[in-house]
Amino acid sequence: MIILAVETSCDETSVAIVKDGSKILSNVIASQVEIHARYGGIVPEVASRQHMLTIVPVSEQAFKEAGIDKGQLDAVAVTKGPGLAGSLIVGVNFAKALAMANKLPLIGINHLEGHIYANWLSEIQPELPCLCLIVSGGHSDLILMREHGLFRKLGSTRDDAAGEAFDKGARILGLPYPGGPAIQEATKGVTTTMSLPRAWLKDNDDFSFSGVKTALLHLVEAQENRDDKWTREAAAAFQEAIVDVLVTKTIQAARRHKVKGILLAGGVAANSALRSRMLADSPLPVLIPPPILCTDNAAMIASCAYYRLMSGQTDNAGLDVIPGLTFGL
Ligand code: KG4
Ligand code: ZN
Repeated sequence: MIILAVETSCDETSVAIVKDGSKILSNVIASQVEIHARYGGIVPEVASRQHMLTIVPVSEQAFKEAGIDKGQLDAVAVTKGPGLAGSLIVGVNFAKALAMANKLPLIGINHLEGHIYANWLSEIQPELPCLCLIVSGGHSDLILMREHGLFRKLGSTRDDAAGEAFDKGARILGLPYPGGPAIQEATKGVTTTMSLPRAWLKDNDDFSFSGVKTALLHLVEAQENRDDKWTREAAAAFQEAIVDVLVTKTIQAARRHKVKGILLAGGVAANSALRSRMLADSPLPVLIPPPILCTDNAAMIASCAYYRLMSGQTDNAGLDVIPGLTFGL
């Protein structure tokens, strides 16, 4: 089954063509990061306009790289939410038009569920039940996945998402946007003696990252001479505090629910410190998509759509965007 998927929930315009839910034929991603960097964050109207400009060339490139034409497609999938309304609308309308014009089944996908399915874009397929840690710019969720389509949310962040914390922490340190990759780069080969507090929120699976962000701000304010070395060490302490909590709480929950393995997903799963620490500490098998499939992309949406379609789910021309779509019961 060959599925074309469209992802425009935030600031990446992406179109992918995927075979049987796991083989990527093409996965074209046009990032707007440089456009938004000058504002220090995503400007929704600029994002929406940019999706309108790039969606057609990106989809043409996806067909070209996959070496197939519209007649060979079996279905069209698209992210319906959560995300920015003006951005989602561009993708959903494009996907609808493509599906209707070519008389193909159409299916709307939850972006967060899509992130999890980046782990199926591989020859090694995850075993179920498993525990998924989704860490992105807008979410930090611990999800118990029993079967395809059956997700239970065990915990989530009470304030900032992990990616949001990285972005805000980087701004406090004077590092560029987006903050996650900037902090990773700044901490390369750095060891630090600084330590920042961790919010363990005992006896539940929730996270909180606003305290460590405030502690970083106080550290910066108290330091008069902040040279490059000091900034790198403070960034390392900040990254270590976030990674420590994410890894420890994920492993605790995985043990408690007796799952077969742990899956990482979302933009922050691209973080090398998080990846190596999770792999080193977990007694259970850990799967982490390659960094390019952790951040927003349409291939993960196509993989998720494959399993939804196999279970008989489809949408019709009435498909609409749901910017506040939730995930996991
Ligand atoms: O999943 P994603 O691409 O978009 C959303 O759905 O939010 O995640 C974006 C987030 C941003 O906050 C970004 O700073 C963070 O992922 N991120 C990283 C890294 N790469 C992206 N955080 C830490 N380390 C990275 N290498
Ligand atoms: Zn995302």
